[in-house]
Amino acid sequence: ERDGYEHYMLKEINEQPNALDRTVSGRIGNDGSVSLSSFPPGTFADVRDVQFVACGTSYHAAMYAREHLIEMGVPAYTFRAGEYATAPAPADEDTLVVAVTQSGETADTLQSVRHARDAGARTLAVTNVVGSTASRECDDALFIRAGPEIGVAATKTFSSQVAALSLLGERLVEDVTGEPSPDRAERGAALRRLPADVQRVLEDSPVAKLADEYRGRDAYFFIGRGVGHPVALEGALKFKEITYEHAEGFGSAELKHGPLALVTEDTPVVAVFDGRHGEKALANVEEVRARGAPVIAVAGEGSRKVREIADEFLPVPDTHPDATGVLANVQLQLVSYHVADLLGRAIDKPRNLAKSVTVE
Ligand code: F6R
Repeated sequence: ERDGYEHYMLKEINEQPNALDRTVSGRIGNDGSVSLSSFPPGTFADVRDVQFVACGTSYHAAMYAREHLIEMGVPAYTFRAGEYATAPAPADEDTLVVAVTQSGETADTLQSVRHARDAGARTLAVTNVVGSTASRECDDALFIRAGPEIGVAATKTFSSQVAALSLLGERLVEDVTGEPSPDRAERGAALRRLPADVQRVLEDSPVAKLADEYRGRDAYFFIGRGVGHPVALEGALKFKEITYEHAEGFGSAELKHGPLALVTEDTPVVAVFDGRHGEKALANVEEVRARGAPVIAVAGEGSRKVREIADEFLPVPDTHPDATGVLANVQLQLVSYHVADLLGRAIDKPRNLAKSVTVE
């Protein structure tokens, strides 16, 4: 069942090229135009603003999706569903509330959708499970087609959520602003190349050889800017879930406002570069290096300066920044997996956690 893999998590990490292929197949034209059968052009012409509601890893996918929308001038906000469920944001019929939920059964996310519906908002589920409660209760559903995920730690569903949300994002940009994204063709090409690029990361990753060197430290920090920020949060979440080591993710901009006090020689810092915020991101790395922290950088393979400054360099194929985060995240999945494996953790069933959280 695990196809010879020791854990479902590793199997599912390795399934990402196929999962992503299914997510995007038939949905992107050569010019980067998006065709989503349930959402023809104009579907979202009446949308004024977008509210994402989600938990955990799915929340990170939502943060990732928001980057493109706000850059293109579409007002978009992310809410942790656990908070929205008790304190929903104001919404009306011009608001599109997008529930991002792999299982489609997360109680807080469903509760958020019910609030949104009561407020008159339009609701859309982005989910992996056909027939799930979210897909039935929302006005519409976009299926990410990742295939079943058994490991408690979400891996391939994150990648497929980001890819599906990228398609939805382009549809929203075009419908809401009346113009395609100026880099639509490059974004589309990067998405179509993503399965092959992920395959390259999986084949060439140096992580298995590095993990031993970095296990057993005081704490682990993950930082990033742009889409590197949600990827840093996701890297830290996965790391704490399956290694049980203390890990925290921050937007790099937050470092100076507190977390830097915790940085020492015994706190490896994993820095995610999205290829867009070079100078500032490098400055943040200098700040932690000055405190003696070992830096593990994840960046496009052509990032010469990053390669020079980092103690360890985890390269990903150079591509559009919106795809770079997904590739960087694959390296981080492998970091968590290999450290947890060396520590002998119950990788597929981490203590205290359930695959889907059906209570509020
Ligand atoms: C982390 C993880 C959880 C889920 C969260 C939401 O690895 O899997 O954080 O992402 O419980 O689940 P869904 O997407 O099913 O709503």
